[in-house]
Amino acid sequence: MTDTSTDPVANAVPERCPVTDLATDYDMFDPDYLKDPFSAWAELRDTCPIAHTERYGGSWLPTRYDDLQAMAKMVPILSSKSPIVIDMPEALAKDDATGYNAAAPISADPPEQSWTRRALLPHFTPKGIAADSAYTERLCNELIDGFIDEGRCDAAVDYAQQIPPRVIAKKLGVDDAMVDDFIEWVRGVLELGLQQPELRAKYRDIIRSFFAAEVADRRANPKDDLITALCQTEHEGKPLPDEVVIGMCNLQLVAGIDTTWSSIGSALWHFAGHGDDRRRMADADDGLWDTAIEELLRFYAPVTMARNAGEDVEYGGVTFREGDKILMNFPGANHDPDHFENAHEVHLDRQRNRHVAFGIGIHRCAGSNLARMEMQVALKTWFERIPEFTLSDPDAVTWAGGQVRGPRIMPVTFG
Ligand code: HEM
Repeated sequence: MTDTSTDPVANAVPERCPVTDLATDYDMFDPDYLKDPFSAWAELRDTCPIAHTERYGGSWLPTRYDDLQAMAKMVPILSSKSPIVIDMPEALAKDDATGYNAAAPISADPPEQSWTRRALLPHFTPKGIAADSAYTERLCNELIDGFIDEGRCDAAVDYAQQIPPRVIAKKLGVDDAMVDDFIEWVRGVLELGLQQPELRAKYRDIIRSFFAAEVADRRANPKDDLITALCQTEHEGKPLPDEVVIGMCNLQLVAGIDTTWSSIGSALWHFAGHGDDRRRMADADDGLWDTAIEELLRFYAPVTMARNAGEDVEYGGVTFREGDKILMNFPGANHDPDHFENAHEVHLDRQRNRHVAFGIGIHRCAGSNLARMEMQVALKTWFERIPEFTLSDPDAVTWAGGQVRGPRIMPVTFG
């Protein structure tokens, strides 16, 4: 099992002061908010549905489903060019200065967003991911082989965290022996780097250099992998420029790892602590698995990307000033009781479930087929081999937050 107590990246998070008023001072990194954001969103939805904070450079937090639907369509006034909620200090933000798009299509507006997205989508259709399923199942079984005899593991570190980096590494065609590096880089750039700009810049540069070398290699020695396919994709009669391919590979690594690892981890956390639901899934048929995955995506939706107001704009009784950050709180929308019956409860067989865990509109997740497949295979394989399991120390569980929420330490026992 992995020892996380000495993790140098995880232990470098700065301190914060207590929240006084959610409506004007919410704290997206407050450990209490990370453990239970649901009650904060419920309070805000009733009292101040678009909250504001000055923390971390300032941001807005919408909590109602209808507002998220409307705001996702306010393109490009609410721009995606800078989807990370905390901007880099100018001295470190070299991507912006060069005009290089670090992670298209997620960090682009149309038209660049449209053609970069078009280049990616064929690789993530059900047909495009068909070959990934058998690999994922083999991988999950091998991971379980590694800890099942011990009767315990960290379900976040030893299982959930290990799956998406290997699946995306295989798809991209990069060395999956570097998986620990990929995890460190992605945590450095998105999870812990959010509050530590130098850490973020360091890992951004590492990822960029890594993919610059991979892209140069594929131009010279084409292979049967996604990096080669992107190198061979054309836009307006010319191959995609190296900078764009590097940015798209960067996005695959970052978007493909943290998100799905968080969803698998949250689902296991739910089942570890909810015996009735766990026992139900031990005998589940395919129909129940399908609705259960959607319900877990709804309830524990991990991803909150940001928008930047391109000009002063009024919406829902507030004015976003030019440059303001708006958190696209898709997870909060998924808990809106106006759209989900008993929104605060997990119903594994929920039939009407128009959740927005994968976003809304032009930026809707391009990897949703892959993400759903990984969740299905990871959870089904776990349940086939470990149907009974519980949290061995509920207080030891930690949750990452900010823009991707999920358990990061989660000791469980079984057998
Ligand atoms: C359960 C896992 C996942 C969740 C919940 C999730 C969620 C999201 C959300 C909410 C967005 C929209 C962001 C916005 O509006 O700014 C998004 C975009 C995106 N996701 Fe995912 N994602 C997951 C897994 C993946 C995977 C596995 C990949 C592929 C490797 C992926 C690739 C992308 C891409 C490329 C975009 C940008 C699409 C665009 O801007 O046109 N995601 N994702």
